[in-house]
Amino acid sequence: MMVSVFSPRPLSGAVRVPGDKSISHRALLLAALAEGRSVIRGLGDGVDVGSTMAAVRRLGATVTVEAAWPRPVVVVDSPGRDGLSEPDDVVDAGNSGTTARLALGLAAGLPFTTVLTGDESLRRRPMGRVSEPLRAMGAVISGRSEGRLLPLAVRGARLRAIDWALTVASAQVKTALILAALGAAGTTRLTEPWPTRDHTERILPVFSGEIERRPASVGTSAEGMSAPAGTTLVVPGGQVLRPAEVDVPADPSSAAFFLTAAAATPGSEVVAEGISLNPGRVAFLQVLSEMGAEVHLWTTGDGYEPYGDVTVRSGRDGLRSVTITGERVPSLIDELPVLAVAAGVARGRTVIMGAGELRHKESDRLEGTAALLRLFGAEVEVKGDDLVIENGGTAKGQGDEGHAVYDCHGDHRLAMAAAIAACVSGRHLSIEGAGCVAISYPGFWRDLASLGAEVTEWSVPEVDE
Ligand code: S3P
Repeated sequence: MMVSVFSPRPLSGAVRVPGDKSISHRALLLAALAEGRSVIRGLGDGVDVGSTMAAVRRLGATVTVEAAWPRPVVVVDSPGRDGLSEPDDVVDAGNSGTTARLALGLAAGLPFTTVLTGDESLRRRPMGRVSEPLRAMGAVISGRSEGRLLPLAVRGARLRAIDWALTVASAQVKTALILAALGAAGTTRLTEPWPTRDHTERILPVFSGEIERRPASVGTSAEGMSAPAGTTLVVPGGQVLRPAEVDVPADPSSAAFFLTAAAATPGSEVVAEGISLNPGRVAFLQVLSEMGAEVHLWTTGDGYEPYGDVTVRSGRDGLRSVTITGERVPSLIDELPVLAVAAGVARGRTVIMGAGELRHKESDRLEGTAALLRLFGAEVEVKGDDLVIENGGTAKGQGDEGHAVYDCHGDHRLAMAAAIAACVSGRHLSIEGAGCVAISYPGFWRDLASLGAEVTEWSVPEVDE
């Protein structure tokens, strides 16, 4: 599917984006471990969350959708950890790295064989970061590339607790290991190099789970510099979870597209309602504010996650460039492509350092982001793991004025970042493969149009040679 976008005026208005994707995955998987009925309100409606729902069903829980758009209510009836059963077919995580890695962690502690696979993109993404520690806990994992690539077969077992220092700052890896640790013998300690999103730590007690966070001891690196201060998570084994009722706030990473458009377009103002204000997820608002945008936050609730409304408008003097250092990258990871679009209209030279993890997302997002900005006339360089954006070209009137075409390589966040680049620049852009936004945000095109963009969906006719 091709989508053409043009915004005749600055995007403006209020939007309620779908339920947070990260929290939705976690709520479904924890509900599967808890015997009885859990109710999840506001579950994300993207295809990725659907993949986790399907995985949970394959393991023997019943998942019923009781209300759909605009606020899905989902009921999970589970026989509990000890009642889950060997899937009679492959668990297909589709495009979802979170489903694959979290399900690996969960399956590692279940006493049967689970086979996991994914689509072409997911089968290229690194799984060794999860299978290696799970093996150290006693899981038997076999599959492609010595267990580093899907498809993988996990023969679960009664796992042993481990002390593990994560080598990559990844909330997916951390969560996979927490899920495995819950049923293990002994107490697991996990240390992350940099803080990553802490949704699992927050939602686990809602399902009567126990987890303790301790500041990791600050070490000294070979260069004599202080090592980053992450967190050590202490997870007692042998836990029995209880079912729960949870409300999922709206997804800040989905709202980030419209909020960044507002920051980058003079005269624009966008309100995102009811989004998670978890500090590990809204660091992009801090960056927009450092760049000169006006950002206002109202916390309207604070249960296991703080949430509220956010308003962003462009600052009086337009945006200025920013330097983002490596330790900030984990808390900005999903917003970097659209922040790079904002950097494209900022005065000066923006440097995003240590963003190598972007290469391991649904596509190589480092190169995909650079290609998008170049299409709009920006000077962009990928230097190792750093992205350097200079003399931005996405500003109105810059770059080639013609109708451009961008191939998002099936990557939902690149498709949405491209749409925002079109809106910010006032140019016409056609996005190839734009249907992939459904991975996280099926209603994206509808909501973009509601904020004032002209959106045309069309399919390119197949011509027989
Ligand atoms: C996620 C963590 C991030 C993020 C992904 C969702 C999660 O991945 O990019 O979209 O739900 O834990 P990593 O932590 O592996 O970088």
